[in-house]
Amino acid sequence: MTTQTNVKHMESLNFLTPETISKAITLVGSPAYVYCRKTIEQRCSEVSAFPSAFGFNARYALKANPHLAILKIIEAMGLHFDASSEYEVMRCLHAGIPGEKIQLTSQQFPNKHLTEIINAGVLFNACSLRQIESFGKAFPGSNISIRVNPGTGSGSNRKTNVGGPSASFGIWHEHTNQAAEIAAKHNLNITRIHSHIGSGSDPDVWKAVTEMTLAQADKFPSVHTVNLGGGFKVARMSAEKSTNLQEVGEFVKSVFTQHAQNTGKQYKLEIEPGTYLSANCGSLICHVDDISNTGKDGYTFLKLNTGMDTITRPALYAADHPIIIINNSSETQDYVVCGHCCESGDVFTVDESDTLTTATLNKAEIGDPVVIEGAGAYCASMSLKNYNSFPTTPQLLLDKDTLKIIQQPQSLTNMLSPEIIPE
Ligand SMILES: Cc1ncc(COP(=O)(O)O)c(C=O)c1O
Repeated sequence: MTTQTNVKHMESLNFLTPETISKAITLVGSPAYVYCRKTIEQRCSEVSAFPSAFGFNARYALKANPHLAILKIIEAMGLHFDASSEYEVMRCLHAGIPGEKIQLTSQQFPNKHLTEIINAGVLFNACSLRQIESFGKAFPGSNISIRVNPGTGSGSNRKTNVGGPSASFGIWHEHTNQAAEIAAKHNLNITRIHSHIGSGSDPDVWKAVTEMTLAQADKFPSVHTVNLGGGFKVARMSAEKSTNLQEVGEFVKSVFTQHAQNTGKQYKLEIEPGTYLSANCGSLICHVDDISNTGKDGYTFLKLNTGMDTITRPALYAADHPIIIINNSSETQDYVVCGHCCESGDVFTVDESDTLTTATLNKAEIGDPVVIEGAGAYCASMSLKNYNSFPTTPQLLLDKDTLKIIQQPQSLTNMLSPEIIPE
């Protein structure tokens, strides 16, 4: 029985055309991710133009999409990087990015590569008191950044909110005196204060956190840089609204300026968006694999040849992505769009309360190409790789008019070779 129908806007393609879609399928088959170089470069330019009062640096939070080819494009556009694990740091170093351009902000202390990373010049951003202690023991007398939980957070949903009392990220704002004591014990110089409150944050909360973070920075005389994290909203669906970076930036600039007038402290500003830089730079091409229905009071299901193993955001966050059927049909139909995994949760059309909804799409036939838009951030990088033993999805870069393979389709040998059957 259909309990709720949520008719969504008809969406359109971002940068792909029916011709590039066919070329991509000919090159690597379907499904396939395609990223657009030009769009990435445009986004980098927008982020680099963020207003600032006393100097500015933008870092790309590479967790959003850490493909080496994407990192190289972003580095060439002059951005620095924020890595969320020591392995992401190693990925950057492997891409030839100098350590000085990389900051490590990790929930887990980097036990395996710490010496190599710090010797390469990577900035360490301590995310807990224990991390300051461990870093101080290993590298007494160094410069260090600390991540502070400013006491409030904001995300597009609970799972992407990483500030406030229910978030384990960073040093709780009331504990920064302890941070100072531990740092002093090891002769560490706290030069940067960092906060990141969530992904898809409410711009007003993000703005409010600026003052809270500046107040934290004032506690440490050696701080010269304040990093306000990422989290800028990006409209993937046509009905959504992106954060206006210029508008937020002008506000932040005025707060920094006013703060300098009141305290004499002129902090350099850093931000570190991931989503803003990459979300709408990537699209996932796939196909209609099957169509079925559950009778006249039920639903019509459009089953794709991709799913939560490749693009996990809908199942994890009930996130909306535009879905476009590539055909010339003049008719539309409401579909529940399903992934190919053997999971009732592998559905692209759910609302925030995880209730099944439908999307109004071109009436589809089995075999029609489909494009899932807004798939450049937290999609390939966050996929449930090899669930149901589906191979990982190949990736292409659209560079001017040429499609370049940047990740081959995964072979069965590649998937199975690390597994060992004991004697
Ligand atoms: C420390 C840090 N900085 C930046 C980001 C980027 O956030 P977004 O992709 O929402 O811009 C994240 C994402 O979770 C993060 O954890």
